[in-house]
Amino acid sequence: MHPNGLGRKKVLAELKKIREQDQQYNDGKILCSMCTKPHPVAEKAYRLFLSSNLGDPGLFPGSVKLEKEVISQLATLFHGQNCVGYLVSGGTEANLMALLAARNMAQLSQPEVVLPESAHFSFTKICNLLNLKPVYAGLDSSFKVDSSSVEKCISKNTLAIVGTAGTAELGAVDPIKELSYIALKYNVWLHVDAAFGGLVIPFLENANYKFDFTLDSVKSMTVDPHKMGMAAIPAGGIIFKDGKALNFIKTETPYLTDKYQYTFAGTRTGAAAASAWAVLQSLGLDGFKKVVGKCMKTTRLLADGLSEAGFKLVVEPTLNIVAFRSDKSTKQLAEKLWENGWFVSYVPRYDCIRIVVMPHVNKQHAMAVLNDAVKLDKGN
Ligand SMILES: Cc1ncc(COP(=O)(O)O)c(C=O)c1O
Repeated sequence: MHPNGLGRKKVLAELKKIREQDQQYNDGKILCSMCTKPHPVAEKAYRLFLSSNLGDPGLFPGSVKLEKEVISQLATLFHGQNCVGYLVSGGTEANLMALLAARNMAQLSQPEVVLPESAHFSFTKICNLLNLKPVYAGLDSSFKVDSSSVEKCISKNTLAIVGTAGTAELGAVDPIKELSYIALKYNVWLHVDAAFGGLVIPFLENANYKFDFTLDSVKSMTVDPHKMGMAAIPAGGIIFKDGKALNFIKTETPYLTDKYQYTFAGTRTGAAAASAWAVLQSLGLDGFKKVVGKCMKTTRLLADGLSEAGFKLVVEPTLNIVAFRSDKSTKQLAEKLWENGWFVSYVPRYDCIRIVVMPHVNKQHAMAVLNDAVKLDKGN
């Protein structure tokens, strides 16, 4: 720290310079992220609520109202009634709170959780923290979890099954309906990680995925406004079907304005709630349909272009994620794309390049990365 302080002007000038080192979503070059440029209304809302703290709700009833409304609107989107939930730091914390509730409710001495092999890596952290044994179920040929493999993984120690509605790597939607039958049969908790897909699937045209609270066994869902909800980070969401779940995650607070907290984080910004609320309110269902429709159109264009150019799609895209391979070295192609300023992911597990077509990625960006991929692959 500077002994006399540098003053506001100098500091802001320096920050501006440093910010230039970061990639900007507007350039359309960030193709590996599940976050995007916050919607303009989200930015404004965030600034308005900058100093509010949801961790001390008695002081910020306005912010609490926004959080409750966001959770209630998301729950309605997922056909939930009387759901409860919170805005948390992201999908990781949301998944953590779900499995914490399931674990504390089940009270098993050697608890296990059945996870698809494609489950998000946050579950590795969570199993570590909660002392749960992960039991991995295999995938079918379209990279969805194989429900017969899930059933084989169930034991007397199983407390929960996790299904993903939109995997991080390929956007695959697990057969949640089949998982719900298994959960019902063995009387275990079913958690749906829809961190990414939760704000895509309901807006897809001609798709009929059953993945939400209409299924009896679905006890909790993760959905992140800071991904396809275009809210400012940190805005993850955890929704429980039944308010009783809160009894298993509550912590008494000795000095705050509310007697209990139900999130892992203590201090939580109300700005995230305001920004998520602002986007939901301002776009409405129609606005989200348009955004998702545009992402899916660009996804299709990119996937078709890649196929026509001779690349192999790992799987036909179901959500706005394209994964492809080259006949030559896919890893080298990914590296060359990075050298040329295209921030794609290379996924070793599937030996593929992955492009997430978020709202900041338009048709021109998709065509430009396609052209460069073709050129660079030829030189490989
Ligand atoms: C399916 C899924 N679950 C969980 C997460 C973790 O979310 P976060 O990084 O916000 O903690 C992600 C992140 O991309 C995800 O795609």
